[in-house]
Amino acid sequence: MTSEDQSQDTQLSAIAQALGRIPSGLFIVTTTDTSGTTGFVASLVQQVGFAPPTIAIAVSRERGPFEAILENGRFSLSLLDKSSSGLMGRFFGKLKDGETPFDGQQMHITAAGSSVFCDALAWYDCKLLKNGYDNGDHHVLFGVVEEASLSHEGEPLIHLRKNGLGY
Ligand SMILES: Cc1cc2nc3c(=O)[nH]c(=O)nc-3n(C[C@H](O)[C@H](O)[C@H](O)COP(=O)(O)O)c2cc1C
Repeated sequence: MTSEDQSQDTQLSAIAQALGRIPSGLFIVTTTDTSGTTGFVASLVQQVGFAPPTIAIAVSRERGPFEAILENGRFSLSLLDKSSSGLMGRFFGKLKDGETPFDGQQMHITAAGSSVFCDALAWYDCKLLKNGYDNGDHHVLFGVVEEASLSHEGEPLIHLRKNGLGY
């Protein structure tokens, strides 16, 4: 390894460490159409505007629901707290044949027909803005919050990472 490579590695690991200290919440992103609801656990989520109230999410192109969000023109977020953290297991654990992460869960249907988790600390139903941003391994999508609800009092889960170049 050349000294230039070594210095690049050192810089990358400094970037990874520093990025990992940026706190985020933990969310389930969902999108719903007539064929059903799909979703995934997400941490690359941030409010990026007040008027209109706007949220940005970063979605890997490999993520199944990515195309569905583009087709539906909507996405929703369920913000997790300690009491709803178990919902993540529905997306990472092994499911039985034909089972979906949503089976047996209490879902709330928003005015626009999106599905969000009743057990979440809060939820946000967003209309996708036309202009997103293709940024390498993730697409940044913007949504205007059309309806939202804080379900109960409590603190959101805060997600920090040892290595900010991964989830
Ligand atoms: C803590 C955490 C945060 C994540 N955040 C995002 C995210 O913001 N965007 C994304 O596209 N995927 C994100 N993922 C990955 C998806 O949840 C992914 O579907 C999941 O890891 C399962 O991987 P698979 O699609 O390879 O089965 C995250 C994963 C974890 C564990």
